[in-house]
This record gives sequence, structure tokens and C-alpha cells, in this order.
Amino acid sequence: MVYYTAMRFIVTAGPTREHLDPVRFLSNPSTGRMGFAVARAARAAGHAVTLVAGPVALKTPPGVRRIDVVSARDMLAAVRAEVADADVLVMTAAVADWRPARRAKSKLKKGEMPDTLKLVRNPDILKSMRGPRVRIGFAAETGLPDAEAARKCREKGLDLVVGNDVTRPGSGFGTTTNRVSLVTPDGSVRHLPLMSKLAVAHRIVAFAERIASDG
Ligand code: C5P
Repeated sequence: MVYYTAMRFIVTAGPTREHLDPVRFLSNPSTGRMGFAVARAARAAGHAVTLVAGPVALKTPPGVRRIDVVSARDMLAAVRAEVADADVLVMTAAVADWRPARRAKSKLKKGEMPDTLKLVRNPDILKSMRGPRVRIGFAAETGLPDAEAARKCREKGLDLVVGNDVTRPGSGFGTTTNRVSLVTPDGSVRHLPLMSKLAVAHRIVAFAERIASDG
């Protein structure tokens, strides 16, 4: 029998919102279900879990500490504040890659809205994080998910990338199921069948436990 000691997980979930004024923002259709499932599975396995959640309409899983954030920069600050104590970071969040270059303090009138929106890149949270010991990312793609996931794994120095093609039925944003592939830095790809997001989450937690116990 293999024994795992309890670890500290940080799990990010949901979308981020990048406001251009108080009532308008750029975002994506992430519901947070996959990340919340990872948090639930990690807690059920006896780990301490901090869930950093973008704006989502989900209940916090029992025993999980939750920090709510809005933008990518908020999420970066929250992860940074927690990461020193963590053993595992699972970046499930669909972080917005860009934000409007300017954010107006009050609602822009129609006449004030520019015809073109100037965007700036958001920081890459995973890439900018030194620790923790186990780092897991997601890759939501609309084609060629394995090739993209393998590239991401190497580029971001991850132990695992969970790739999913969000265009496939039963997979991706808003569904309760997912069909994913597990991609490791050695380039090996393991395709899992369609399963519940909670079942995928248990696989991810088991993977993190294995990596941590291998030293
Ligand atoms: O490069 P891409 O955005 O597709 O990478 C996806 C992975 O990187 C996800 O795990 C996501 O949570 C993470 N990410 C991040 N910071 C960003 C964008 C993505 O940590 N600004």
C-alpha cells in the first residue's frame, strides 16, 4: 500500500473579467466546474485546499478555503500570496490573456466608446510562479490539443498539462463531463475517455500525489 502525506493545494478556477468600465468587461464562458471539482477531490483525499475563484456561480466545496477574485491581476496577487506554503498548484482557471489598456472609473457613454479597443497582455500566472513542487496546467484548445498541450508543458515548466478540445461534445466549458488528455514533459500523452469532471479531478489529484511522493 502507498501512503501519501497531506499536502497543500492551490487550485484556480473559473474565468477572469477584464473590465473596461464598471459594467463592461472581456471574459470567457468558463463556469469553474473543473476547478471546483479539483478542489473537492483534493479535499476528499485529505489535502488542505485553497481555491482561488474568478466570478462563478458555484458553491464552495466543503472544507475548502475560497478566495474570490475578478481579474487576472487579482488572481496573480492571490496565488502569489498563497504559493509559499503550497505543495501543488493546479491552474484550472481560464485566465483572460488580454485586458483593456484603460479602465474607466464610471460607465462610458455610447459616444465615448472608442471604435477600437486597445488591449495589453495580462501576466502569465503559471509562468511567473517559481514554486510550488508540483505544477499542473490546463490547455483549452479548439484544435490539435495534444500538440499544444505538450508545447505548453515544456514552455511553462509544468509536471502535467491537462489538454481538452473545447469543441468536442461533452467536453470543455459548462459541461459536467470532460474528455481530456494528460500530457507530461517527456511528451507522453494519455487519452482518458469521456468522464465526469469529478472523475477527471480525482485522476489529477492522484497524479499530483505520485509526483510529490517521487520527490
Ligand atoms: O497559454 P494558455 O493560456 O493556453 O495556458 C493555459 C494554462 O496557463 C492554464 O493552466 C491557465 O490557467 C494558465 N494561465 C496562466 N496565466 C495566464 C494565462 C493562462 O496561468 N495569463
